[in-house]
Formats: sequence, C-alpha cells, structure tokens
Amino acid sequence: MDIGTRLFRSALLGLAGNRAARAFSERYGMRLGARRFVAGETMEEALAQAKRLNGTGIAVTLDVLGESVSSLEEAKRSETAYIRLLQAIAEERIDGGVSLKPTQFGLAIDESACLGGIRSVVREASRLGLFVRLDMEDSRWTDATIGLVRTLREEGFANQGTVIQAYLYRSEEDVRRLCAENVNLRVVKGAYKEPRRIAFPSKKQVDANMRRLIQLRLDSGVYTAVATHDEAIIGWVKSYARMRGIPLTAFEFQMLYGIRVPLQEKLARQGYTVRSYVPFGRSWYPYFVRRLAERPANVLFIAKSLIKRK
Ligand code: FDA
Repeated sequence: MDIGTRLFRSALLGLAGNRAARAFSERYGMRLGARRFVAGETMEEALAQAKRLNGTGIAVTLDVLGESVSSLEEAKRSETAYIRLLQAIAEERIDGGVSLKPTQFGLAIDESACLGGIRSVVREASRLGLFVRLDMEDSRWTDATIGLVRTLREEGFANQGTVIQAYLYRSEEDVRRLCAENVNLRVVKGAYKEPRRIAFPSKKQVDANMRRLIQLRLDSGVYTAVATHDEAIIGWVKSYARMRGIPLTAFEFQMLYGIRVPLQEKLARQGYTVRSYVPFGRSWYPYFVRRLAERPANVLFIAKSLIKRK
C-alpha cells in the first residue's frame, strides 16, 4: 500500500468514529450510496435479500447495524432486535444465522450486562438451531470479545464463535488457543485503524499472516470461515484443501453483501459453502465508511453516482 493510500484510508477510518459526520449522514439517508453495501433499513428488506441470495445457493449471516451504544437501554433494544431477527430467520426458513457486535450490547458500559444480552441471543439461537458470530471490533475489545466467547462456550453454547484479524501480531497465539478450545472462527484481514505497535503495517505482511492463520485452522480441523474477497487467498485455500484432503464441510468462504458477487456465485456453483454478510438497519454509517476505506475506488464510485443523480 503506498503512502497516499495509507493516509487516505487512515483519514476515512477516522471519520468512521466521528459522531457529527455519522449523525449528518444517517439523517441524509441511504442516498449517499450506502445501498451498495447495505441490504436496507428494515428487517423485511434484509430478509428479502437473504431469500434472494439463498436462491442462488448462498447462505447468509444477517447483521443489525449498530455499534458503541451509549446506554444499557440501547443495548437492550439490540437484544430484542436480534431475538426478533432469529425468530424471523427460523420462521421464513432462511439458510443463515446472525453476526453481532459486542459494543452494540454495551461492552463499553458494563461487561456483565453485555454478556447477559448476548447470552439471551445465543440461547434463543440454540433453541432454533442457529449460529451467532461475535464480530471483532477494534483492538480495545479483543480480549473482552474472546472472553465472552469462552464464557459462553464453558456454559455449553457451541452455536457461537468469533473473528480473528490477521493484521494483529497477537492473532497467531489466539488462533492456536482457540483451535485447542474448539471455537468456530472467522478469519479476516482486519478493518480498523490500528497502530504499528500491535498490527502489521503492510498489506503484504497482513496477507502472509492471513495464510498462516488459515493454514493453522484448516490443519486443526475446527470449522473455519475464510472471509475475504482476495482471489489469490481464495485460490490458495482451494488448492491447500485439495492437497491436504480437507473436506469441504470443514470450512466456508464468506464475503460482504454487494462485493464480488459473481465470485460468490461461482464458488457456490463449484460446491463450496459461501456465506454473504448481510447488514441492515438505520445505523449504517460506520460500516459504510469502513467499506469505503478498504477500497479508495469506492469513494469515486459513490461520488460518480451522486453526480449522476443530480
Ligand atoms: P483486500 O482488502 O486485499 O481486497 C481484495 C480485493 O477484494 C480488492 O482488490 C477488491 O477488489 C475487493 N474488495 C475488498 N474490499 C472491498 C470493498 N470494500 N469494496 C469493493 N471491493 C472490495 N473485519 C473486522 O475487523 N472484524 C470483523 O468482524 C469482520 N467481519 C467480516 C466479515 C466478512 C464476511 C468479511 C468478508 C469481512 C469482514 N471484515 C471484518 C472485514 C475485513 O477485515 C476486511 O477489511 C475486508 O474483508 C477487506 O479485505 P479483503 O480480505 O477482502 O482483502
């Protein structure tokens, strides 16, 4: 990544946490181009997209957008929304589960209340035979998120897991421990702004670590979601699995809603399990900005579509 791209990405990620920019954008509505990455503002819109994806052989993980709530009342509303969503997934027989962010359940306010809320969601999912993924947020929450997953696992909930980010130096150690504990993991590159002190600064290093972590997971036999749009990594995973005789039931590919759709469909046709991460809701701003930061060309794309609309 050249210096210009790095500075641009860092500036955008700074904007993701800016409350004024967020309030302005969310008031302005989805017209800013968020619809390319967000399935809609309501659960009904998201369920319709989930069904459409299921129709093309792609499973889903639905995400009620929202993070960093500022009160336990808001956290309780997240819990209610997720339970309603799980029930709708079961009723509508959607091939999918849910992803949630611990700070949306009050992790920054009260860790035990957060655990209580997530536990209710995981318990309801378990009753319905569904899976809950705890997304990984910035490095302030890594230990606590892994702690939540461990506690729930000790309580007997096997229908939940979390995410490991290849850009963090600590991740290899986390992966080894979580393999030993049989925890279902999604491996990603990492989407937040992190200092060099704790994260690999170059894309080349992150990509190399991503392969190292995926290899550890595939060799361990514990179910793994490889979440990337990087065709080089996807191609490497396919040949590594073939070479080592790893069954297709041991892993899946995951990609984000609206990104590399033909590739998602092609992998599904080839017999791989493919899951699309489908976010919806009114609090789409930070998610949207992280997608722009991942690919500077997206900013141009959004700008062009805004100009065309005028
Ligand atoms: P990379 O950035 O190298 O991109 C490879 C290629 O994919 C690009 O050349 C481009 O063509 C395409 N591409 C990538 N991003 C794009 C975009 N936004 N728009 C258009 N094209 C794009 N992160 C995290 O920190 N915590 C989490 O819990 C999750 N969860 C998660 C779930 C799923 C299902 C996915 C796919 C990703 C995440 N991520 C995440 C995000 C992840 O960390 C990472 O930021 C993005 O996946 C982008 O990195 P790639 O692996 O795609 O590679």
